[in-house]
Amino acid sequence: MNTENQSKKIILSGIQASGDLTIGHYAGAMKNWVQLQDDYECFFMVADMHAITTKQIPADLRRRSIDVVAMYAACGINTEQSTLFIQSHVQEHAQLAWVLNCFTGFGEAQRMTQFKDKSQQHSENVNVGLFSYPVLMAADILLYQADLVPVGDDQKQHIELTRNLAERFNHLYSPTFIIPEPFIAKEGARIMSLQEPKKKMSKSDPNQNSCIFLHDSDAVIRNKIKRAVTDSGTDIIYDIETRPGISNLMSLHHIATGKSMQAISDEFNGRGYAPFKEAVAESVAELISPIRSRFEELRSHPDELSALLKTGADKAKRQAFKTLRKVYKKIGFVEPS
Ligand code: TRP
Repeated sequence: MNTENQSKKIILSGIQASGDLTIGHYAGAMKNWVQLQDDYECFFMVADMHAITTKQIPADLRRRSIDVVAMYAACGINTEQSTLFIQSHVQEHAQLAWVLNCFTGFGEAQRMTQFKDKSQQHSENVNVGLFSYPVLMAADILLYQADLVPVGDDQKQHIELTRNLAERFNHLYSPTFIIPEPFIAKEGARIMSLQEPKKKMSKSDPNQNSCIFLHDSDAVIRNKIKRAVTDSGTDIIYDIETRPGISNLMSLHHIATGKSMQAISDEFNGRGYAPFKEAVAESVAELISPIRSRFEELRSHPDELSALLKTGADKAKRQAFKTLRKVYKKIGFVEPS
């Protein structure tokens, strides 16, 4: 047994493989994961099973699932230390999700605001998988006995459901699951669209200029930032309500340089938008350029990536199997002989 890991708390998080990763993912997820990985035992997954709750082109899903893994590593996740894996490689996710489905109230799932939003967005394909999406997410988390789940604000309700399901199961049977806590990224980590700064930056936005991808070239990054929507007036002051465009550019500069909002404002306020935008373009290009190179390097060695995924899946499976076996026993499933 690995005694070192036993004393560490466990983290699990993941990103859906439904689009290419953006600087929003970096700011809201990977940047924090990198900082957490020394202090926690971390499982980082690619949620390909969640991705198929909306329509996917098979070849794209396959490429993207691997891209996401390579991007995790390119952003600084230490693949020796943390466990990286693809959700569908560990069957226990689907298996525990089924059990948890049978402990989730219909009304409880119906109250999830993301379900309501997504069923409006994809009104032509409101499937049962979309409905039980948060239950699969609960399975992802509970299988690993995660203590902490770093997520964006929009996932908080899903963590709340996960906690309720875990408590319900523990109460009905006996203590089985750790009750996880959400770990919400701090302010400034939420990156908005460059074109409509009141909306979250989204990989699926049809306007490509609204979104900076982690594989964008320096020239593309500079161009997108140059075209970013700003607010009327000239103040460079952080205020999401009245100055959403400038505040978003300040967040980007903060993410890329580590400077505080106050320091950024002190440096640029009163000098007009142009020099500020130039500085943001420069800092963001400087942040992404090494990530892009590492990504391309990793992507050019598919054998190493698939070996890494095999190791990750094996390690994840060991933990997942342990939890699932307990659950199956408690609910009365006969152990296979
Ligand atoms: N639903 C999450 C999102 O869209 C992705 C996800 C799937 C996840 N399973 C998870 C996040 C488990 C944290 C833990 O962001």
